[in-house]
Amino acid sequence: MPTKVLSGDLTEDLTTDEILSLRKQYLLPTAVHYYQKPLELVRAKGNYVYDETGREYLDCIGGIVCNSAGHNHPVIQARMKAMIESDEIQHVTTLYLNQHIVKLAEKLASLAPEGVNRCAFTNSGSEANELAFMAARHATGETTIVNLRHSYHGGTSAALAACGHHTWRFRSQPVAQVTSAMEPNCYRCPFGQKPESCHLECADNVETTIQTTTHGKIAAFIAEPVMGVGGFIAPPKEYFHRVAAIVHNYGGKYISDEVQTGAGRCGGAYLLTKELEIPADVITMAKGFGNGAAIGAVVMRDDVADPLAGKLYFNTFAGDPFQSMQALTTMEIIEEERLIENARDMGDYLRQGLLALQSRFELIGDVRGRGLLMGVELVSDRKTKAYASAETNRVMEICRDKGVLIGKGGLFGNVLRLAPALSINREQIDHLLQALEAAFLALQKETM
Ligand SMILES: Cc1ncc(COP(=O)(O)O)c(C=O)c1O
Repeated sequence: MPTKVLSGDLTEDLTTDEILSLRKQYLLPTAVHYYQKPLELVRAKGNYVYDETGREYLDCIGGIVCNSAGHNHPVIQARMKAMIESDEIQHVTTLYLNQHIVKLAEKLASLAPEGVNRCAFTNSGSEANELAFMAARHATGETTIVNLRHSYHGGTSAALAACGHHTWRFRSQPVAQVTSAMEPNCYRCPFGQKPESCHLECADNVETTIQTTTHGKIAAFIAEPVMGVGGFIAPPKEYFHRVAAIVHNYGGKYISDEVQTGAGRCGGAYLLTKELEIPADVITMAKGFGNGAAIGAVVMRDDVADPLAGKLYFNTFAGDPFQSMQALTTMEIIEEERLIENARDMGDYLRQGLLALQSRFELIGDVRGRGLLMGVELVSDRKTKAYASAETNRVMEICRDKGVLIGKGGLFGNVLRLAPALSINREQIDHLLQALEAAFLALQKETM
């Protein structure tokens, strides 16, 4: 095994094989990778990333849904350089005053729904959800959180306890007071309904879940407005309205997890909660919020924030000047470059292209999502909707060969996830669609 990292010149680059073997040796086995032959990425600019040989790939997944303004945006780079060159302090904590965190809080509050304006910052989406749970429990005096099957809210203890996928949950973890309602998945309706016969049984199931699995009061309900890890499941607007009324009726706070959907990605407003007019009490964010910088946010109503007075919440790195600056600058770029409008237009264009592919390829069971958060569910039989998990991996591999990186999700790994930077243009979407077409043609040939 190479031990170059420990004994050799630390500035010398490692080969891809060395990286892989050192990962295997020193990282936890939980660190999985995409692709049979793992891809090493070394550089990035705009909508493109580059491997160690200099080969260019159109990035249509953005790490995992983190690329809002484009990689290494020149404005963010210039501001970071200026901060470093002027010896600006990188680390302060909220025990000292600093301008960046309050500028960021003011901006976020201005983009959140009316009355949702008290902020805290974290290092990740998981931490944002942890804080949201703690605040909701503290405010209500109740402990139960209602989540949705197929949801994902993070990799820390409480966030993972609220995760509706067995694959992510570790063994023997105490799951403190979480109860799960049925998933609002129109393609695979757990109530066997069709859009024409639907009465939002899934929304009513939140009430049944509270009535039958709790003492009749809850601390909070948490949901993503588009279920990301679950496979970009996008319930109708009415679902959220009916659920919010139920949640409030049982004394709970509504937490809208916008870790994937936020930062303008869905093409209507900076926050999808605002666009869909969901009466949320708490909104959580991360990923595209900082354009890849390690920053998350919680923004909440006064009635959730005020009871926290007298308590201390300390998070050493959260809201540090460099991270706050990157999130604020990302928000400015989104406005200045009209990236939300672009996400809407390019999202529509992408959807049309995907629907055209669906009309040609039986493998595509469903095309769904909002803006530039588009999912393509693959099924090996449209009638039985059998999960085409192996085919999904093949599509990803072929797209990689064609110079396009995409993601996947869903409990059975059969949903292609497309989430490029909000600055993507038509030619780049055409490139993505061509790569997908080539992949579907190749798979069609293989099964003939
Ligand atoms: C909807 C949602 N919430 C929370 C998280 C957790 O965020 P992080 O990985 O930054 O902790 C994720 C991560 O994928 C997510 O998709």
